[in-house]
Amino acid sequence: VGVHAVTQSEAGEVVYLNGQLVARSEARIDPEDRGFLFGDGIYEVLEVQAGLPLFAQAHYERLVRSAQAIQLSVPLDKDGFLRTIRELVAANGVEEGLVYLQVTRGVAPRSHAFPQGEVPPTVFAFARSQPPDPSLAQGVAAVVLPDQRWYRVDLKTVNLLPNVLASQEARRRGAYEAILVRDGVVTECSHSNVWMVRGGVVYTHPADTWILHGVTRAVTLQAARQAGIDVREEAFLEVDLWEAQELFLTSTTAGVVPIVRINGRPVGTGVPGPVTGQVSRAYRQAVEAELRRLREES
Ligand code: PDD
Repeated sequence: VGVHAVTQSEAGEVVYLNGQLVARSEARIDPEDRGFLFGDGIYEVLEVQAGLPLFAQAHYERLVRSAQAIQLSVPLDKDGFLRTIRELVAANGVEEGLVYLQVTRGVAPRSHAFPQGEVPPTVFAFARSQPPDPSLAQGVAAVVLPDQRWYRVDLKTVNLLPNVLASQEARRRGAYEAILVRDGVVTECSHSNVWMVRGGVVYTHPADTWILHGVTRAVTLQAARQAGIDVREEAFLEVDLWEAQELFLTSTTAGVVPIVRINGRPVGTGVPGPVTGQVSRAYRQAVEAELRRLREES
């Protein structure tokens, strides 16, 4: 990565744009960028702990998968992706926080079909300090809303309007998340995956085209199974929500979070349940193992 002669102390936030680290105040994206005009792009969000970006390989693989599905090529190979993210984290002195990275189909005169000829994709990333919110462990409220998204929500595109509207409606109703329902089936949340506990068994929607294949979901699934918890990738229904013993959600920035109220009613006993606690511990162990692996590597 070419460092455009900036350090954080002299220039504030340092961002990555098209191969260079630059002061945010210097970063310029053309108004005819297709990400801006059409939402024609994809993105990833990684968690940073102890200055180390977690599960970067899985995030890179999902980025490439999203790109391929929309016929976009990511102009970073895996090593370039890892290097970019590490340099961005270091340049901003992020210890606890996140990295956001977006790739769009670049700049071209506005026309729906892809630009003709070689147009370089726009790659933009930032790293930000954001300490974990300890209050999440006490559980959050959710509301149930219709899933109004398209048919390929497994692709992590920047077309997030239905997610934005659902998230805003949740906030308006004093909730942290919106649980989305399509044809009576619970899919996921506006910015996280959702899980249900019934009869001691944990259920979550299979990783098909109706949900985002959360990296935290995959890590949690494996960690919970290793811990001997019965976890099934089976869809459940909206009606099941009202009978659930426990509900929880997973996402990169929040980890495993108990859902203790839906539409104002308590879930189970109204406090975080024992299975959610077990799953959460299993997930934290997986994060600790990842941190150990990253420290040994560096
Ligand atoms: N959101 N489902 C949706 C719709 C999401 O946007 C996200 C992530 C997840 C969880 O995926 P992961 O475990 O890989 O973070 C599920 C990110 C954090 C965001 O848009 O900010």
